[in-house]
Amino acid sequence: MRTTVGIIGGGPAGLLLARMLHRAGIDCVVLESRTREYVEHRQRAGMLEQGTVDALRACGAAGRLETEGLVHQGIELRFAGERHHIDFPVLTGGRTVTIYAQTEIVKDLVALQLAEGPPLLFEAEALAVEKPESDAPVVRFRHGGREQTLTCEWIAGCDGFHGISREAFPAATSRTYEHDYPYSWLGILADVPPSCEELIYARGERGFALHSMRSPVVSRLYLQVPNGTDPDDWSDERIWDELAARFAIDADWTLERGPITAKSVTPMRSYVHEPMRHGRLLLAGDAAHIVPPTGAKGLNLAVSDVSLLARALTAVHRTGSTQLIDRYSKLCLSRVWQATRFSYDMTRMLHAQPNGDAFESRMQLARLRRITASHHAAAELAANYTGLPLPV
Ligand code: APR
Ligand code: PHB
Repeated sequence: MRTTVGIIGGGPAGLLLARMLHRAGIDCVVLESRTREYVEHRQRAGMLEQGTVDALRACGAAGRLETEGLVHQGIELRFAGERHHIDFPVLTGGRTVTIYAQTEIVKDLVALQLAEGPPLLFEAEALAVEKPESDAPVVRFRHGGREQTLTCEWIAGCDGFHGISREAFPAATSRTYEHDYPYSWLGILADVPPSCEELIYARGERGFALHSMRSPVVSRLYLQVPNGTDPDDWSDERIWDELAARFAIDADWTLERGPITAKSVTPMRSYVHEPMRHGRLLLAGDAAHIVPPTGAKGLNLAVSDVSLLARALTAVHRTGSTQLIDRYSKLCLSRVWQATRFSYDMTRMLHAQPNGDAFESRMQLARLRRITASHHAAAELAANYTGLPLPV
């Protein structure tokens, strides 16, 4: 098989890149190791920056998002029995965010690609990237029980944290930066209307809790738990009781309960791989970086990576100019590190220290008090949360 751009991975990064390139008239093929059913039902993030909404709209993939997305004007910070609203439009000059599940973005992009192209191969596992330094790099992959090759002009490694693309980077020029957090998130989906209009981030001595949502009748909530927690150790009643305790405030507010339909534990890590390009192989999304979900940046970073990559590849294809693609790694990493910093700061500010460090606990409260008392501090949080401008 031959194509202009070989895309490894059919998650949000790979699918959106394929959509953008297809609309620019550039041939590409997506190789996804899992089944359609699997990728469309993996519970992940759900908070979209305005830039992500704009990118999906620009490539004609925002039909359902426009009607089903929930536009939010801010978030609530809850701590020391108090509640504080962070008003995004006031603090950012009009920016908002939108709740729309990553699963729905994937479903929308898969449906468009199967209907309009480019080729999307499920259960097609990339085995290796070969000759990335050449002008005809190759993806060796297995599909339909046969080993095959895809000869490309460019390869996009959109295969997530556990993919194989990074293996093609020479160790001598690769640098990785990692931080593992001493806690995880227990996430649930519940068939119950959200108990809030917008997201609640709750910091307390019992641990962090987040109240998000997926629709007017489906809630998405998270609990900080110790690493290694088995979700089966947490009954529905225990989960609701702990959530209620962590969201408790000195006001008339009740956490509505309902049947839990999904439950999983996710460890928290920060990870960045530099550079994001080697020869004709370019990384995008989780293949290059992982952030803790506290700042809701993972999906949005993947979208900003592929928005830049699509523009760079389009420039090469149409004019031969490599100026943008030569700057791709540097431009992406400038935004990746800012999102990594913000996600780290939000995580450290809101999660209880397992060792019960009293000084750190006071530092958290001091940070939260500064944000809720100072326009400038609140504006800095709002600017990062709603999305810093793209690097170009
Ligand atoms: N060959 C083909 N496909 C592969 C391979 C491989 N060797 N390895 C992994 N994949 C596929 C995975 O099955 C997955 O569908 O690559 C895809 C990578 O998708 P994601 O992990 O979702 O990463 P990305 O597209 O960058 O999206 C980032 O997803 O994980 C969340 O929190 C993350 O919201 C963020 C978003
Ligand atoms: C979600 O809705 O899944 C979500 C929202 C905001 C976050 C993390 C997860 O910070």
